[in-house]
Amino acid sequence: MLDQLNAIEHKATAALQAVNNKDDLEQWRVEHLGKKSPLMTILGDLGKLSKEERPAIGKRGNEVKVALEKAYADQVEALRKAELQHSLTAGALDVTLPGRPIVRGRLHPATQTLREIYAIWAEMGFQVYRARDVETDEYNFELLNIPRHHPARDMWDTFYTTTPNVILRTHTSPGQIHAMREYCPQPIRVILPGMCYRYEQISASKEIQFHQVEGLAVGKNIRLTDLLGTVTEFNRRIFGPERQTRFRSSYFPFTEPSVEIDVSCANCNGQGCAVCKHTGWLEIAGAGMVHPTVLRNGGYDPAIYSGFAFGMGPQRITMLKYGISDIRYFWANDLRFLEQF
Ligand code: PHE
Repeated sequence: MLDQLNAIEHKATAALQAVNNKDDLEQWRVEHLGKKSPLMTILGDLGKLSKEERPAIGKRGNEVKVALEKAYADQVEALRKAELQHSLTAGALDVTLPGRPIVRGRLHPATQTLREIYAIWAEMGFQVYRARDVETDEYNFELLNIPRHHPARDMWDTFYTTTPNVILRTHTSPGQIHAMREYCPQPIRVILPGMCYRYEQISASKEIQFHQVEGLAVGKNIRLTDLLGTVTEFNRRIFGPERQTRFRSSYFPFTEPSVEIDVSCANCNGQGCAVCKHTGWLEIAGAGMVHPTVLRNGGYDPAIYSGFAFGMGPQRITMLKYGISDIRYFWANDLRFLEQF
């Protein structure tokens, strides 16, 4: 009987070594420590033994039971630890893996050009000054030396609103008056970017809304040559040193003298092609010396102060830089166009 108990312990211990999951462990418990297990049968039948045999078998039987219960408890704990370890490693983050790419938007080509323009003018000491899109007739025209019924008003096809004298600005020039009235009598060096609106027949080169970047420098001893030099330098920086700048005399009611600014066509290198209508030049801005009346309207005495102003079309610049053939692409919201930039 004692041999039997030793064999039971030996067999059960050996079997426990092979157990590596909860189901097998439960099966092991039923088999070796359950009510019908050989060990429990022996312990249950102790009463049937003789008085002489009973103490030794009973003692040994209990020892085996305690040993197996302890081994069982140890195995329960071991399995629990293994499971925890497994879930930790299996669910762990690999921080060395490359991240998933984020689908990001991009800046509109018009915005990209505007920012380039801001940066160049900033280097030359010009601050960005924001003026309003919705203007009065007074600021958009009259203070800029364009009285009512002046034929020059035909240069701008205006969007009028139902409120008398309130219009959408046709150019960024009214910002000149706002800036002058705010800063007078200090010297000014600002650019005024923003959207302008004109009631026009839409075509490849004309939209009813478009950007302008106005520039204004006011101070003492500012001359036409300052305008020419500053704009030439701007053109070199934005288009590259191989492009040439040309000034043609022109007319604007708010500048005197007035010029039109051209750059040599990048498409044909000034030789003449369809893009530049075979002239070799592309117009990018109007400019001139601020008219004395405009200076006065801004609060500056034209006998002491002078200044230059320009108004450029940044979308034209973007079209020239990237060879964009139609201005309508800008606000058409077509991703096939926008994703190219
Ligand atoms: N405002 C003019 C236009 O829209 C451009 C311009 C600005 C010309 C400043 C001269 C000086 O055509």
